[in-house]
Amino acid sequence: MTAISVPVRGGHDASYEVIVGRSVLADLPRLLVERCPARLYAVIADHRVAQLHGAALLGRLEEAGLEALLFTFPAGEWNKTRHTWAELTDALLAARIGRDGAVLAVGGGVAGDVGGFVAATYLRGIPYVQVPTTLLAMLDSSVGGKTGLDVPAGKNLVGAFHQPRVVVAEVGLLATLPRPHIAAGMAEAIRYVAIADAAYAAMIAEAGPVLARDLDRLEPIVRRGVELKAAIVAADEREAGLRQVLNFGHTVGHAVETTIGFELLHGEAVAIGMAVEAWIAEAAGVAEPGLHRELVALIERYGLPASVPADLAADDLVEAMHADKKVRAGAVRFALPRRMGEMAQSADGAWTVEIEPALIRHALDSNR
Ligand SMILES: NC(=O)c1ccc[n+]([C@@H]2O[C@H](COP(=O)([O-])OP(=O)(O)OC[C@H]3O[C@@H](n4cnc5c(N)ncnc54)[C@H](O)[C@@H]3O)[C@@H](O)[C@H]2O)c1
Ligand SMILES: [Zn+2]
Repeated sequence: MTAISVPVRGGHDASYEVIVGRSVLADLPRLLVERCPARLYAVIADHRVAQLHGAALLGRLEEAGLEALLFTFPAGEWNKTRHTWAELTDALLAARIGRDGAVLAVGGGVAGDVGGFVAATYLRGIPYVQVPTTLLAMLDSSVGGKTGLDVPAGKNLVGAFHQPRVVVAEVGLLATLPRPHIAAGMAEAIRYVAIADAAYAAMIAEAGPVLARDLDRLEPIVRRGVELKAAIVAADEREAGLRQVLNFGHTVGHAVETTIGFELLHGEAVAIGMAVEAWIAEAAGVAEPGLHRELVALIERYGLPASVPADLAADDLVEAMHADKKVRAGAVRFALPRRMGEMAQSADGAWTVEIEPALIRHALDSNR
């Protein structure tokens, strides 16, 4: 078991730990009592996770004398909506959960984002704890305090920063996660190689055992990934500066997701996004030659897509990028690596680089 601390600026109180390991769920009741005491816990999970792990989890809480109620919503990215938020919120209100209650968001990034946003807004905000159950949620979405919803105009456009009291990443839960979701989660690990730690590549180089859900391999990968994410968000809690490096692969990735609907998993779209953005980095003279090739090799080892789907028009994708919240004053800015493990910083100190629409279109069409 490892405890990785995520310092949050503006006071000790807001800092929290990510507990990573096997059998760490046994500690969940104690952690809840110590770090997130509540009269009643609202466990928020999608139907699938509730079916697989809900009874065991509630049993643990009950055994420890904690009161908990389960609130579920249908699984899938397409349910990360205001509608789901409204239904959950109304259900918590109907159950008369008060300000002395807390949310336990159990599941992938969708449950974490929705459950976290319910907690951020319920009675003007109640505390919450994250129990990530997908590789993506452990490596990425459960750490950093970003919560939110998708709306018709785009992904994650409504949300709030709300830091969890503790994150409990039980690696053993990955044993039931379908292989495509393991691969999709690894896209975020590959991103950390590019943006923060070239040496992390050695840990994830062998895809076979990871895709076969070898938990002995997955545990150090999760631990290191959380350390890398924690270091970035600690340096920049509200995304004013350094945290922008996390957007590598996501400017194109989100545009692909928005344009294609929900045919691709988030991690698959990010894999495509990283390939295109690495190509842009080289073409713009930001990155050393070879970065794109190296990254695509890593992406393909995990069976992830590295090319833009043929039926997505470059113009539609560029338009979707403009609609994205990270676009200011018409120009599309990208977080781009200079070389593996090192991001480019502009002369003005920003961790993003402005790219001409013509080059973006060219990059999209060159990566088909
Ligand atoms: N808040 C952030 O900082 C942040 C960062 C990255 C991604 N995200 C968001 O995360 C979301 C994607 O997360 P995701 O890929 O985890 O999707 P998800 O939450 O939909 O989970 C994927 C699928 O796996 C199932 N599942 C979850 N855990 C399981 C387990 N242990 N065994 C078997 N099945 C299991 C779920 O029911 C679901 O069907 C996106 O909405 C993305 O925007 C947020
Ligand atoms: Zn992502």
